[in-house]
Amino acid sequence: MLAFLILEFLWPFAIVLVLCYVYIKCSAVNHFIRSGCKQNVLIVTAHPDDECMFFAPTILSLLQEGHQIYLVCLSKGNFYNQGELRKKELLVSCGKLGIPQSNVTIIEDERFQDGPENVWSIDGIVERVSGVIKRIGAKSVITFDGQGVSSHPNHVALFKAARRMVHEKVIEGVSVFVLESTNIVRKYVSIIDIPISSIICMTTFVSLPVDVYKAWLAMTAHKSQLVWFRKLYIFFSRYMYVNTLYKLD
Ligand SMILES: *[C@@H]1O[C@H](CO)[C@@H](O)[C@H](O)[C@H]1NC(C)=O
Ligand SMILES: [Zn+2]
Repeated sequence: MLAFLILEFLWPFAIVLVLCYVYIKCSAVNHFIRSGCKQNVLIVTAHPDDECMFFAPTILSLLQEGHQIYLVCLSKGNFYNQGELRKKELLVSCGKLGIPQSNVTIIEDERFQDGPENVWSIDGIVERVSGVIKRIGAKSVITFDGQGVSSHPNHVALFKAARRMVHEKVIEGVSVFVLESTNIVRKYVSIIDIPISSIICMTTFVSLPVDVYKAWLAMTAHKSQLVWFRKLYIFFSRYMYVNTLYKLD
């Protein structure tokens, strides 16, 4: 009886999911699809593992659309003195997502030490990130929003730096996008958030099951981080399945 009820519920939901997927992919609502041209896109993260815990649907979709993807990680994640190991894990994880090592920059700068108590220098981030933007000729930059998904102060520092770059016109002609932080309910309803996201947000990236699997594989590269709550996270977090982005003006 229970199995029957679950099936009854599942197939309409499966149809809704397929419709959302087709809608997101085909209707030209997505900024990156609408703009048409292939561009260099820079993803800015704070710690090794942010790329697959939060940005995987964005990275995988942009790669499939033929954009050149670069990643800059502002710290090597040295909170538990595992920085050297985590640097290697980050490169493996990026490889599994499809970003070659040569397109990954890991910044080691004492102004940005991993840890919620460490206040990161916003000027320092602006300086280092704008340097990378110029070097690779990025046309779009993607980073965290003001709540940084998990409210981690290091994530929020990246948002503040991005906002400063836009307001003070440090980088001309570069579009800056931020990853929307949803409320805690939407955060942990996994695929159920796909229909909600596709209705609410213009720039939505959604992962097909094969991409979700890729993101899980990338997560297994972060062996030092695979504690039980992160294992739960990769099943229940919407960020493994869908990303919504907003443009900073
Ligand atoms: C990596 O960067 C090179 C140029 O440095 C670029 O041609 C290539 O497309 C990039 N790779 C990906 C997967 O974006
Ligand atoms: Zn992080």
